[in-house]
Amino acid sequence: MSNQIQNTSAQQRELADKRVVIVGGTSGIGLSAAIQAKNKGANVIIIGRNADVAAQLTEKYGFEGWRAADVTSEIEVETALRDFPVVDHLVMLAGSFVAGKVREAEVGYLRRAFDERIWAAVTAIRTLGDRLSKDGSVTFVSGVLADRPNAYGTAVLAAASAAMEAFARGLALEIAPVRVNTLSPGPIDTPLLSKTLGDGRDAFVESLNATLPLKRIGTVDEAAAGVVFLITNGFMNGATLHLDGGAALV
Ligand SMILES: NC(=O)c1ccc[n+]([C@@H]2O[C@H](COP(=O)([O-])OP(=O)(O)OC[C@H]3O[C@@H](n4cnc5c(N)ncnc54)[C@H](OP(=O)(O)O)[C@@H]3O)[C@@H](O)[C@H]2O)c1
Repeated sequence: MSNQIQNTSAQQRELADKRVVIVGGTSGIGLSAAIQAKNKGANVIIIGRNADVAAQLTEKYGFEGWRAADVTSEIEVETALRDFPVVDHLVMLAGSFVAGKVREAEVGYLRRAFDERIWAAVTAIRTLGDRLSKDGSVTFVSGVLADRPNAYGTAVLAAASAAMEAFARGLALEIAPVRVNTLSPGPIDTPLLSKTLGDGRDAFVESLNATLPLKRIGTVDEAAAGVVFLITNGFMNGATLHLDGGAALV
């Protein structure tokens, strides 16, 4: 019994004094992951484009700090990450819902799906270099679209998502022993849905709720728990964690 209690309290502090940098940590899955990591003792840095929001959240939740950067700008990513002596865990969650059909949308817009994901991650990894702790980790995000595309203009986003999973596997070998994994969430109830769909958000969620195996979309805390698991489990490496309530099955 006393062993059990010790284990539980060790788990509660398992990120004690670890610096966790969450790019895209100012909203949704990233913000919940930031709060959960902080509750496990981490020194959390959140990064988003909006400096005021990042500063307010840092104050509110007692994070170690914040940076403002647009991940599609190489120079802004480099500037945001240049002054940390060590980063134990890097989490790359920033991204928008890039939706447009290949024959209709502007190529510059579609390119954003890769700029926000692959090229932002490449820049972050290059910028941190050896300052990424050897017993630390990198976590990317993909999404159920990588496995279950649809015909509604998400082909490029699906490709960028699948690319993150492949990138993580290659990088896990290239920068070993740093662990590199990808979280693949299904539909999660975050501000992204309203940002993308506006007034259409509720109808979209309702239609998903009707078809998903669990009859609901996921919560931010459920998705963020997956991020924390990938960070904290020292044997997770080169993996994609599917956290989608079975969405890939239907
Ligand atoms: N929600 C879902 O159903 C779902 C499913 C699969 C995958 N995902 C992926 O999971 C990630 C997080 O999604 P979420 O639902 O938590 O979204 P969210 O609530 O909109 O949060 C997105 C975060 O990324 C930041 N961000 C977006 N574009 C950025 C840019 N160009 N540069 C810097 N920061 C940027 C946002 O901050 P600012 O707005 O202040 O810049 C915010 O902190 C996204 O990559 C998304 O594609 C989400």
